[in-house]
Amino acid sequence: MTPLPHHLLPDNAAVGADGRLAIGGCDVVELARRFGTPLFVYDEEHLRARCREAVAAFGEGATYAAKAFLCRAMARLVHEEGMALDVASGGELHVALAAGVPAERLVLHGNNKSTTELTTALDAGVGRVVVDSHDELDRIEGLVAAGAAPPRVLVRVTPGVEAHTHVYVQTGQADSKFGFGLAAGVARAAVERVAASPAMDLVGIHAHIGSNVFVLSSFAQAVEVLADFVAPLGLPELVLGGGLGVAYVAGEQAPTIAEWATVLAKACADAGISARIGAEPGRAIAAGAAVTLYTVGTIKEVDGIRTYVAVDGGMSDNPRPVLYGSGYEAFLPRATDAERPRVVRVVGKHCESGDVVVADARLPVDLAVGDVLATPVTGAYGHSMASNYNKVTRPAVVFVAGGDAQVVVRRETLDDLLALDT
Ligand code: LLP
Repeated sequence: MTPLPHHLLPDNAAVGADGRLAIGGCDVVELARRFGTPLFVYDEEHLRARCREAVAAFGEGATYAAKAFLCRAMARLVHEEGMALDVASGGELHVALAAGVPAERLVLHGNNKSTTELTTALDAGVGRVVVDSHDELDRIEGLVAAGAAPPRVLVRVTPGVEAHTHVYVQTGQADSKFGFGLAAGVARAAVERVAASPAMDLVGIHAHIGSNVFVLSSFAQAVEVLADFVAPLGLPELVLGGGLGVAYVAGEQAPTIAEWATVLAKACADAGISARIGAEPGRAIAAGAAVTLYTVGTIKEVDGIRTYVAVDGGMSDNPRPVLYGSGYEAFLPRATDAERPRVVRVVGKHCESGDVVVADARLPVDLAVGDVLATPVTGAYGHSMASNYNKVTRPAVVFVAGGDAQVVVRRETLDDLLALDT
């Protein structure tokens, strides 16, 4: 029944006397009219504030996980605010470099970095490479032997901790494709190899336990498990990955970046780890900054069963409900604080029944075809995981601030859909 909780809206959201939502001083329904839907609307100052919070908490160790949301404008913003960028593929690396981020501020990740990706990264002079396998070490040694400069590296370790999150986004458990396992001396052997190799400059250890983790003790537990391994090495850096959760739906509350950092710092101090602590938040920076705007196209009552409300996007702009069963809220930005007694299923326009945006959305009674419908907290892993399924064009992205809206990613056109055909 209840209206949308305001803590799910971006920092600079305001509801007018007429109930209409403005973000960054821009009327949201007006943005939908001006730029079309679906549309990702990011509160630029919210993004900047989260970056500053991360820098205040982690200093030089604050790194944005670009996979959450990346385009050139985002890379520039993050860099301007003092964060480094974690890039997990040659594509993310390319976008970050194209944005003008100095290579020194980039950290290259990936469990299967190709020789081409490594060559590009080493030639550009990326700040760190997080090494993940012996095959990768072979490749780096080959490239350095052929003349590349030896990179500074962190060895990725899987601590064997199961984070309290969806199994698809758990990464710290022993049964993992990532990193070198702590158990059975695998990580130790990797560290010894890297330390002895003239092709690499070993600067630290990296561990990431999973994503959308709300329970801060999971991070502390990972530090405890790592302590006996990490502390005696005396390396200058320890990066504890990303993974801080965010509130998506009513009733959820997530720790802040500052609270997360405090828990990590205490766990490290208790464990006798004196390394500089780094972290790579993605979701905690970007998720809450954005809302997605859709237009309602059909409202279908299936007698005695439910009402289907179809919007002009779906699993192509937000695959998270389908992939992980993730929940979202829905609301009407023309009546932001209205009671939402009507329970409906918000679905997309794709050719499958699983194409659900919000399984049990609560919406106002006067919901109508043509309404702009919004889902909050879509700034992370929405646009970045968007697809062209059913040849649906990907939405535009606008940054709003101070009453201005700037298109940072234009809407795909039908001709873009033909651009790769030969
Ligand atoms: N560092 C590493 C090494 C990672 O693998 C990840 C996320 C991060 C940092 C950033 O994590 P965050 O702070 O965003 O949780 N598509 C999924 C999330 C996958 C995360 C993969 N790695 C989702 O939509 O929930």
